Order: sequence, then C-alpha cells, then structure tokens
Amino acid sequence: TNASTPAPAGDAGGSEGAYLRAVRGARPDFAAGGRLPVWFMRQAGRSLPEYRRVREGISMLDSCRRPELVCEITLQPVRRYGVDAAIFYSDIVVPLQAAGVGVDIVAGTGPVVAEPIRTRADLDRLPELTPDRLEHIAAACRLITAELPAGTPLIGFAGAPFTLASYLVEGGPSRDLLRTKAMMLGDPELFADLLARLAQITGQFLRVQAEAGASAVQLFDSWVGALPLVDYRRHVAPHSAAALAAVADLDVARVHFGTVSSELLGEMAAVDGGVDMVGVDFRLPLDEGARRAAAGAGRPVAVQGNLDPAHLFAPADVLRAAVREVCAAGERAGVGHVVNLGHGVPPSASPDALQLVVDEVHAWTPTA
Ligand code: CP3
Repeated sequence: TNASTPAPAGDAGGSEGAYLRAVRGARPDFAAGGRLPVWFMRQAGRSLPEYRRVREGISMLDSCRRPELVCEITLQPVRRYGVDAAIFYSDIVVPLQAAGVGVDIVAGTGPVVAEPIRTRADLDRLPELTPDRLEHIAAACRLITAELPAGTPLIGFAGAPFTLASYLVEGGPSRDLLRTKAMMLGDPELFADLLARLAQITGQFLRVQAEAGASAVQLFDSWVGALPLVDYRRHVAPHSAAALAAVADLDVARVHFGTVSSELLGEMAAVDGGVDMVGVDFRLPLDEGARRAAAGAGRPVAVQGNLDPAHLFAPADVLRAAVREVCAAGERAGVGHVVNLGHGVPPSASPDALQLVVDEVHAWTPTA
C-alpha cells in the first residue's frame, strides 16, 4: 500500500457499502450503525487545491488520457472527504473524442466541435466507438478499483445522447438549443439517427467502465430540461434507454440524472424497463421526486440528491439545516437514498463546506 491509499470510509452498510445498498433500494439500518451514503457530482475537480496542482500545465482532455493521473484525481475527494463513492474522472466529450470527433474543451467557453453535425452528410462522418479506442479508460478504471477501500465503489458515467447531440449540432454551448430542437422537430428521422449513433458511443463508453470495475453507471442528461415531456418521451427517451441497455446484462447499477428534470422524472425512471436510481433536481422536494419516479417506473426507485449547491455558500448552520432536511425527506420517501447536490460542485465551493455536508450526512439518524 502507498501514501495515496484512501482512508477506509468506515463500514456503513456491510461489505457492499452504503452507496450500493442504497442504489439497490435499501434504507440504512441506523440501529446497527448504518448511515446514509453521500458523494458529490464534480467532487473531483476545480474546487480542490490538490486537483489544481496536478492539472497544472495539462489540458483537461490530455489529463483524461493518462491512467495514473485519472486514478489520482478520482481518488482525491475519496481521500479528503471520506465520501461513499468515487466518480470516474473524465468528461462527457471524452467518448466523442475517442471515437474520432474533433472536439475540444475551451477555457471560459466549454466544449467546441470543429465540424458541427447538421445534415445527413455530416452524420455519415460520425464514427462508431470501438472498445480498442478505450483501452486507457479501462486501464484507469482498473487502477482506481484496485486502490479504492472496500465498500467504496467506482461510479462510471457518460453523457446522454441528447446532451451530446446538443454540442454536436450547436457546435458549442448554447442557452436555448434552438438548432438542436429545430432538427428534432423539422427532421425527426435525421435526429433519431443521430441519437441512435450517440447511444452506441455512450453505451460502449459505459460498458468499458463497467467491465473494468465500475459498480454503477450514471447517465448524465445535463440539458434535457430544455424539452417538454411529449418531446422527451418521443424523441429522446428511447435513445437513453438504448445507451443504458448496453450494460443491462452486467452486474452494474444504473442511475439516470438530468437537470431541470422535475417534469421528466417519471419517464427518466422508466427507461429500458426501469433504472435503479434517479437524480432529483433541487427544485423539487426529494420525497415528491421519489413519488414521481415510482409512478413512472411502476415500482419504488432509489433517489439521489438533492441539496441546492447554493447552500454551500450559506452560513454553516443554514447549510447543516438544509442537509438535515434532505436526509429527512429521503426518510419520508422510504426508498434507497444517496445524498448529493442537485448539480455539480461549483468550482468556487469551499472544501470545508463539502466536508461539513459529508460529516452531517454520516452523523444523521431519523431520530437525532
Ligand atoms: O461528477 C462528475 O465528475 C461527472 C462527470 C462530468 C464532468 N463534466 C467532469 C468534469 C460531467 C457529467 C460533466 C458534464 C459537462 N462537461 C458539461 C455539461 C454540463 C454539466 O455541468 O452537466 C459540460 C459543458 C462539460 C464541459 C467541461 N468539462 C467544461 C466547460 C470544463 C471546465 C474547463 C476545464 O478545463 O477544467 C470541464 C472539465 C471537467 N469536467 C472537469 C470534471 C471533473 C474538471 C474540473 C472541473 O471543472 O471542476
């Protein structure tokens, strides 16, 4: 073992660990010392000084191609905070680049695509993603899972077909996704073919991570909140389902997350016969999110969330009270619950505020 081995997160749900128990639908056995699990989207990232140090002089996408560095960055927040899961250090554009798409993350702008996809001829240029192009991803997953403490799983992830399509069609970040939605409404066949191709890329990326040791995969549909329910159901959900179906035969939990997704939650819970857990937007009380997810899937679904990241900038007593309310809402829902933020950690968040959240969640019991 070496200095980078994370401290054990503490037993919190048997050898399976608190995160996987919750994803599988179980509430903690508080009387036996069990506790709620917590991790943060973007916990490995710019809010950590140790992250900024190791990234110095290396671009985001270059850093993602170096397995030792990916392993180090993935483990940093586990070591520092004692969170109950690690999220694979990567980005939603990594599988696109691995497939051969000309894409870059431009500082201050976001993902920029050299040749946007707007016509059938453009789509014909979109390559398939084969596993041989993801060997560095598998290598990084193996390094990480060898180092993680027992009971602290690795979560793999990918961007959902709709969110990836929005970058490919717009050519970069966009507030209203008008070009993407224009293709969806005006040429639904082209749009469906684009999303089907992206579901192949996303599915392959998830599969490689799951086969190399990830215990759960989370599909991120960051911009799905741009859509009304009818369009989501008709034009998008089948392709997110196809991406998640790529790992349905593996022993891996499936998590579906979107932002501004309150109105879509039932549909998102139901894809491909039902996912194990949905991320709940911070705009909705967690127990209401659990009701919507269960109604959509036709059975209870575990929930992840849903502290508004803005609370990280509030005084400690306000933050503590908000954390306790999220924990209590999960208890009222009575389903598996993984505490998280409603969206990623803002780069300016203080690591002390995140530590406070972890400690408060781990100390929480229904009667305290
Ligand atoms: O919890 C996770 O880490 C999940 C993985 C994830 C990342 N980015 C990791 C990441 C996901 C789902 C994303 C999504 C993403 N990436 C979006 C969609 C919107 C959203 O927030 O959900 C966009 C626009 C990107 C593109 C991107 N990636 C930008 C603009 C940057 C910042 C610029 C830079 O050079 O650092 C990134 C970097 C990135 N993505 C990091 C991580 C952990 C590095 C550090 C950080 O931003 O904190």
